[in-house]
Amino acid sequence: MNSVVIGLGAALPKKIICNNDLPESLNTSDEWIVQRTGIRQRHVASEDETTSSLSVEASRKAMAMAGISADDIDLIIVGTVTGDYTFPATATIVQRELGVKNAAAFDVSAACSGFIYGLDLADARLKLGRSKCALVIGAETFSRLVDWTDRSTCVLFGDGAGAMLLRGENSQNGIQSCLIHSDGTGIEYLKTSGGVSTTKTVGFVQMKGQEVFRAAIEKFNESLKELLLQNNMTIEDIDLIIPHQANSRIIEKLIMLSGIKREKVLITVDKHANTSAASIPLAMSELGCEIFRKKNIVLLSMGAGFTWGAALIKF
Ligand code: ACO
Repeated sequence: MNSVVIGLGAALPKKIICNNDLPESLNTSDEWIVQRTGIRQRHVASEDETTSSLSVEASRKAMAMAGISADDIDLIIVGTVTGDYTFPATATIVQRELGVKNAAAFDVSAACSGFIYGLDLADARLKLGRSKCALVIGAETFSRLVDWTDRSTCVLFGDGAGAMLLRGENSQNGIQSCLIHSDGTGIEYLKTSGGVSTTKTVGFVQMKGQEVFRAAIEKFNESLKELLLQNNMTIEDIDLIIPHQANSRIIEKLIMLSGIKREKVLITVDKHANTSAASIPLAMSELGCEIFRKKNIVLLSMGAGFTWGAALIKF
């Protein structure tokens, strides 16, 4: 039994903030941001757009692509750290809005690796036959978690959602392998300044940029090697890498260290900025049905914790 991708969908808030639209008080510039990060713009949620509403929009598109109804879905996982409420899980709100009656629905908190963590769990349940059709979503409204007076973090993030539908099928295609890891000694480098059981607030994003930068390069590289080894493959066998979209310089390093051809690496950070758990499924959805023409696709993630992970999908 394999977990086969049958649908993809994405949703972005209508409002776009380009680098030049950022408030003057931030004392930043388009030149600085583009040079250091590759980011040119970010989508920012309006009051009526939430992590769940973006998730629902992305999910409906994935369902339309797969040609399935709400009755077919029996597992919903949302990777997010910016859920609508502290509880219940955003996945249960998505379940209600989609009208999915018989499913388990829960959120995964693994920061920018939330989608890959969700994918790993869904893959395991589908392969065991414990779920038949899984909706895995990465969704964030990070614009609500940044301090808009802190130029070293607020310019980096954006909002959005990406959804993937997977079905357990007797097929050679689908998820070939998935790996997830974490190292809690990295928590101080990227975290919020508060939380329910500490400050009783949500807090703002705090980051030691250079340490995160170095760790992201190291973990991308490590997980790619691990994935290739697991599947007895070389980098030439890979048709496309979709890395977490945090910073184009991190992705450039990945290209250099792995030896992958540049045209085989998808980059969307210029348009979306860093959308945390949403970034990989958002980037995947950019390809639309073209994705089904690629053979071996690698997904790579790295986020706060640190958490990291990778997946190899065959189409
Ligand atoms: N505009 C202008 N100047 C800025 C800005 C800004 N937006 N932000 C910081 N600066 C200034 C700093 O104040 C500092 O000034 P100083 O030298 O006078 O003190 C100077 O730029 C250099 O600051 P650094 O933090 O050393 O800049 P660096 O070259 O490391 O770039 C950056 C910062 C882009 C955050 C980089 O460290 C990075 O990309 N880190 C990766 C982190 C990342 O992408 N995180 C996303 C979340 S994690 C993830 O998704 C994996």
